[in-house]
Amino acid sequence: MTDRYAVVGNPVAHSLSPTIHAEFARVTGEDLTYGTLEAPIDGFARAADRFLASGRGLNVTVPFKLDAWRWVDRHDDYAAAAGAVNTIVPTEDGWLGCNTDGVGLVADLTEHLRWQVAGARTLILGAGGAVQGVVGALSEAGAEDVAIANRTVAKAQALADRFGVRACSLDEVGGGWDLIVNGTSAGLAGTGGLIAGDAVAGGRCYDMFYTRDGATPFCTWAKAQGARAVADGLGMLVEQAAQAFYLWRGVRPDTASVLALIRGGGPS
Ligand code: ATR
Repeated sequence: MTDRYAVVGNPVAHSLSPTIHAEFARVTGEDLTYGTLEAPIDGFARAADRFLASGRGLNVTVPFKLDAWRWVDRHDDYAAAAGAVNTIVPTEDGWLGCNTDGVGLVADLTEHLRWQVAGARTLILGAGGAVQGVVGALSEAGAEDVAIANRTVAKAQALADRFGVRACSLDEVGGGWDLIVNGTSAGLAGTGGLIAGDAVAGGRCYDMFYTRDGATPFCTWAKAQGARAVADGLGMLVEQAAQAFYLWRGVRPDTASVLALIRGGGPS
């Protein structure tokens, strides 16, 4: 029987994950279907129970990553550290909650963009769910002098303490960063410049959010400030999906062709 997977979220109708996984399945020859599952805001557990009675795995997106963390039987190291689950995998010991966001970000940075993370002085903007999932993987990949800057400094401090890195406010980030990662949702509202332009000049800037053409407000702003390079988070989306696919199927799909396909067209 064909194995069933889905991404659960609210809203979830516009998720690119079904397109990405359908393409992974096509290129690897894996027999599976992958759909969307919209759960009521207070109904994650019921939706997961129902789907996983016959389904073989779920991806989890906003706003359910913490609900998923509570729902699973066990956590992998990344999910345990992040306090958030984006991939649910069946094992002999029950449902394993994984977090592939950090691995996805590092894979996009190092393998696709060929940006050096090891030894890179790294500034992370934001302290919400998006950032929570990636701090551990960035540190593990060798990022140095890691600082988390956030509008609400107390949130940055709490996260920084958990991962043994520094925290600061958005107006005291300083300069000389090699890598600046935006994980605030401010860019979605069209605000590009959250910090002084000097902070990004000469550095490589990565926006965890994405647009079809890659020109997010943060990327556009950073480029204008003299960033050495900019990239949006579409590659991370594809790489975190590839890691989930690998956890489920034991097969690593090629990501470059899927990224090109999504950049080129298809559903938004
Ligand atoms: P998510 O889980 O998607 O990361 P979140 O937990 O609401 O969403 O976090 C959003 C992040 O964007 C936070 O770091 C938030 O800063 P606060 O913690 O101070 O709220 C940041 N953010 C959102 N809008 C912002 C803005 N206009 N300026 C600066 N930071 C903003």
